[in-house]
Amino acid sequence: MTVSNRTTFSSAFPFALISTSAMTSASSSDVLILALGVGLAAVYLFRDQLFAASKPKTAPIVAAKGQNGSGNPRDFIAKMKEGKKRLVIFYGSQTGTAEEYAIRLAKEAKSKFGLASLVCDPEEYDFENLDELPEDCAAFFVMATYGEGEPTDNAVQLMQNLQDESFEFSGGERKLEGLKYVVFGLGNKTYEHYNSIGRAVDAELTKLGAIRIGERGEGDDDKSMEEDYLEWKDGMWDAFAAAMNVEEGQGGDSADFAVSELDIHPPEKVYLGELSARALTKTKGIHDAKNPYPAPISHSRELFEPTADRNCAHIELDTEGSGITYQHGDHVGVWPSNPDVEVDRLLCALNLYDKKDTVINIESLDPALAKVPFPVPTTYATVLRHYIDISAVAGRQILGTLSKFAPTPEAEAFLKNMNTNKEEYHKVIAEGCLRLGEVLQLAAGDDLNIYPTKENTTGWPIPFDIIVSSIPRLQPRYYSISSSPKIHPNSIHVTVVVLKYQNIPNHHVDAKWVYGVGSNFLLNLKYAVNNETPPLIASEGSSDPSHVSVPTYQIEGPRGAYKQDTVYKSPIHVRRSTFRLPTNPKSPVIMIGPGTGVAPFRGFVQERVALARRSIEKNGPDALADWGRISLFYGCRKSTEDFLYKEEWPQYVEELRGKFVMHVAFSRENYKPDGSKIYVQDLIWEDREHIADAILNGKGYVYICGEAKNMSKQVEDVLARILGEAKGGSAAVEGAAELKLLKERSRLMLDVWS
Ligand SMILES: Cc1cc2nc3c(=O)[nH]c(=O)nc-3n(C[C@H](O)[C@H](O)[C@H](O)COP(=O)(O)OP(=O)(O)OC[C@H]3O[C@@H](n4cnc5c(N)ncnc54)[C@H](O)[C@@H]3O)c2cc1C
Ligand SMILES: NC(=O)c1ccc[n+]([C@@H]2O[C@H](COP(=O)([O-])OP(=O)(O)OC[C@H]3O[C@@H](n4cnc5c(N)ncnc54)[C@H](OP(=O)(O)O)[C@@H]3O)[C@@H](O)[C@H]2O)c1
Ligand SMILES: Cc1cc2nc3c(=O)[nH]c(=O)nc-3n(C[C@H](O)[C@H](O)[C@H](O)COP(=O)(O)O)c2cc1C
Repeated sequence: MTVSNRTTFSSAFPFALISTSAMTSASSSDVLILALGVGLAAVYLFRDQLFAASKPKTAPIVAAKGQNGSGNPRDFIAKMKEGKKRLVIFYGSQTGTAEEYAIRLAKEAKSKFGLASLVCDPEEYDFENLDELPEDCAAFFVMATYGEGEPTDNAVQLMQNLQDESFEFSGGERKLEGLKYVVFGLGNKTYEHYNSIGRAVDAELTKLGAIRIGERGEGDDDKSMEEDYLEWKDGMWDAFAAAMNVEEGQGGDSADFAVSELDIHPPEKVYLGELSARALTKTKGIHDAKNPYPAPISHSRELFEPTADRNCAHIELDTEGSGITYQHGDHVGVWPSNPDVEVDRLLCALNLYDKKDTVINIESLDPALAKVPFPVPTTYATVLRHYIDISAVAGRQILGTLSKFAPTPEAEAFLKNMNTNKEEYHKVIAEGCLRLGEVLQLAAGDDLNIYPTKENTTGWPIPFDIIVSSIPRLQPRYYSISSSPKIHPNSIHVTVVVLKYQNIPNHHVDAKWVYGVGSNFLLNLKYAVNNETPPLIASEGSSDPSHVSVPTYQIEGPRGAYKQDTVYKSPIHVRRSTFRLPTNPKSPVIMIGPGTGVAPFRGFVQERVALARRSIEKNGPDALADWGRISLFYGCRKSTEDFLYKEEWPQYVEELRGKFVMHVAFSRENYKPDGSKIYVQDLIWEDREHIADAILNGKGYVYICGEAKNMSKQVEDVLARILGEAKGGSAAVEGAAELKLLKERSRLMLDVWS
């Protein structure tokens, strides 16, 4: 496969290897261009392709007038009055973080000022009577940003109402004079449109005459959302007290939940990790995020070569008979559980190990403020294994609360210091990557380097309701689907690079490996499916199994629901995306996806292959002649190590008869003359003539997928340079304007993550 300084696929395939010349002296081997000979002409209308690349249009939403008053479940003002609530807290949330912060704000308002809040999913309420909010009340907006600065699905309507010039509030005017509001935006600085929804909400409300309380808060997921929140909230609460004319100290700590142990309960009604009532009762129903489908894994394999020090799992999830459908470019949500070691650690640290299977019920003491975040009745062990995120790095705020339950004065002092000393918290806990169980062990002087047991772990008398209200729900992990339903109608493929990294050791914490929850859950499934023994990690010099092997999970699931004979299953649901190929195959397509960013593009290429097969069958061998070129820019470290789906691409090249061209940058194999690495953006620059022509003259579509922090930005910069130059101007002016236009027309789409 590798021919000295030039890499190609098997010569059995009739494609031409084109080497671009700009970087060539030292690096032509880094540029792999696969192309078939040019096909002949044929024209056909591809009516049956279902998905255009444009975003689905959302119908303008106008709240029904005259429906206010009690009895209308969509009337938040009536609900506030009924419940004597002075704050309404709207959250725009996709994966639960904004909701979590909305609830935290509600709890703080209650404990600081004794004020009750209505925490609202904006989708569930009409927005038009915001102008009826009484003067002694305030509205909070806790809003996450997604994609190209877009709102979360549940906030689309709210944003439309705020931004639509024709939208009127219930008084018949577009005014919110004197409305008091607070904004906390959630975002990630690696994205171009940082926190744009929080900012837009703020700007629109101000335009409407509303008055912001304190500063607008902005949390950056890339650094620390928690720290940004903590830094912002005290100033905001001071301003809030003044604006609302309330004083601190009027509230008091009150529990959100009541946890009770049940002596007798029908075992078949106890949730042992089932994610829905239907899963517990084994009744049929639609499979979605509220009722994930346990999909059998029909095939799985390692995609990296044994020489790589990383894992990348290809997993095929069988959806036959589930009613689940998908389209190329969609995401699949995988619902992991926590690894055994973390479950055991926290059970021991909470003194619950002996009671781990005790059946418990949990009731919300204020359902409007905090719903029980998972199904009950359940057991202690189930909550920790399946329902809450105990594997994340422990937050700073909870440590203050937990210090009250410390087993020794030293443990209490340690937690208090971590709670109040931001720098020390950052160094010891954040950089040391300590989960809550580990922090409790460290505070109590337990040994973190051995597998946690009752005997070696100090028990803390922390009420379980505090754990439930302080630790967020374990969330599904999303993966770009790497197959096309046209070729695999009953199977969803995922391409998962397994997360494993080292912490930064400090005076309290030794060096250790940290394992991503979801990707290692899938890796475990892959090992089990193939009857493989997980490899040992020798580097830590410890003989303890927990330290020398990858984390283990209870992959057989609740009541063995995820294992049938030798077949293993994973709970999944599909999330629709707008990341789609253009309907017309004549449009040129440029796909940029290094690393696992290639995942959706495998699906895109398969989609086109399926269409090509049908077209050729119908119209003969020249059927693809007027198709646009499909270019894939892919990058990996070495051709011999982590070249994903290396053996498949030549077949796609052949089937697409010269219309599919693949460029590959091997970043650790060959270098530029100055010794620097060659990345996808260098190959794009090298191919600039074709790219400019495809975009500007061919009305082509551009897709970027993969890492958000550096890659996607640098790729966009190069695209701006190419387009600016082609337009006879600069990257900053003409190039940036062209990119903006492409985005507006959904001809430049991003599916990136950090
Ligand atoms: C839309 C979308 C599509 C995606 N598609 C894919 C895909 O096709 N393939 C794929 O493999 N992944 C994909 N991902 C990423 C995937 O969802 C998971 O985030 C990833 O598998 C890690 O999850 P985990 O549960 O293993 O890790 P977690 O347990 O969730 O840990 C992740 C966290 O670890 C921390 N972290 C990570 N690296 C380091 C480090 N070096 N140092 C310190 N802290 C670190 C970060 O806080 C990070 O948020 C996608 C994500 C999104 C949002
Ligand atoms: N949410 C998550 O936790 C999650 C999940 C998956 C991936 N990721 C992150 O996403 C990134 C990609 O992960 P991956 O495993 O899919 O790919 P990868 O194997 O780390 O990288 C793929 C290729 O991209 C190159 N590359 C590195 N920086 C680049 C840049 N700025 N521009 C263009 N190419 C660049 C790499 O080169 P070199 O390595 O030689 O520099 C490599 O050749 C990683 O940073 C990873 O941590 C995060
Ligand atoms: C696919 C994806 C796209 C995102 N796009 C943006 C963005 O354009 N701008 C931004 O500031 N943050 C962006 N973020 C960061 C989220 O806003 C942030 O992670 C937030 O905490 C998510 O909140 P939620 O869990 O309530 O949905 C993005 C996150 C993901 C996963």
